[in-house]
Amino acid sequence: MNLIFMGPPGAGKGTQADWIINNFGIPHISTGDMFRAAIGQGTALGLKAKEYMDQGLLVPDDVTNGIVKERLQAPDCQKGFLLDGFPRTIPQAEALDEILTALNKPIDHVMNLKVDRSFLLARLTGRRVCRSCGATYHVEFNPPKQQGVCDRCNGELYQRSDDTEEKVGTRLDEYTNKTAPLLEYYAKKGLLRDINGEQDIDVVTADIQTLLRGQA
Ligand code: AP5
Ligand code: MG
Ligand code: ZN
Repeated sequence: MNLIFMGPPGAGKGTQADWIINNFGIPHISTGDMFRAAIGQGTALGLKAKEYMDQGLLVPDDVTNGIVKERLQAPDCQKGFLLDGFPRTIPQAEALDEILTALNKPIDHVMNLKVDRSFLLARLTGRRVCRSCGATYHVEFNPPKQQGVCDRCNGELYQRSDDTEEKVGTRLDEYTNKTAPLLEYYAKKGLLRDINGEQDIDVVTADIQTLLRGQA
């Protein structure tokens, strides 16, 4: 199953990835997570990405396309993949088409988590992420049992440095200007599946299960 998650920052892409990767046994490929890992390791890629991420801006296409191309060739993508946060520009989508044609891995669904901008500031500023396992929480909408502590692994929860009100504004503008045009790109190819991401987390999961039921 070759899947793409689209949707603005805070739509719930990372949150909804769990069930899919467990059910289909495919890797979760989040370019944002890959960049944050590189920043943590202090690599050249991390330093480059940090310049842009710190401002809430998209990392340049040539940098991003390179890491995705390499990642999609790894053996764990044999059964498929879930791309989260890539592509985010038309040139990225065109590069992905080229990569997937060469690998003979056509896209099955582009799942578009639709959430109005008015929901997103509260979702993002209240998000907390586990430093150890990456699990995502929300102080109000999906709180951990114990404040600041991960339910799964007891790891420490932290707030992403781009989840401030100011940076969220820039990130949402980047989405509107550069990423939203991709919806038409994939609709024209007959691959776009809209999902109402404004519902409760488990209702959104149930809608995704209905879409993917019976597919392997
Ligand atoms: P990335 O890490 O991809 O961030 P993003 O796209 O801004 O998306 P988020 O991770 O913020 O949102 P999400 O949809 O995963 O929401 P989540 O499930 O966590 O990218 C970060 C940066 O990296 C970019 O700004 C850019 O600089 C760079 N980058 C990455 N990819 C790139 C690319 N392809 N090209 C160029 N640059 C790139 O949920 C959010 C919160 O809401 C959580 O607290 C959650 O608990 C809560 N929540 C989730 N669902 C619900 C619900 N249904 N109801 C209530 N609350 C909910
Ligand atoms: Mg995410
Ligand atoms: Zn954890």
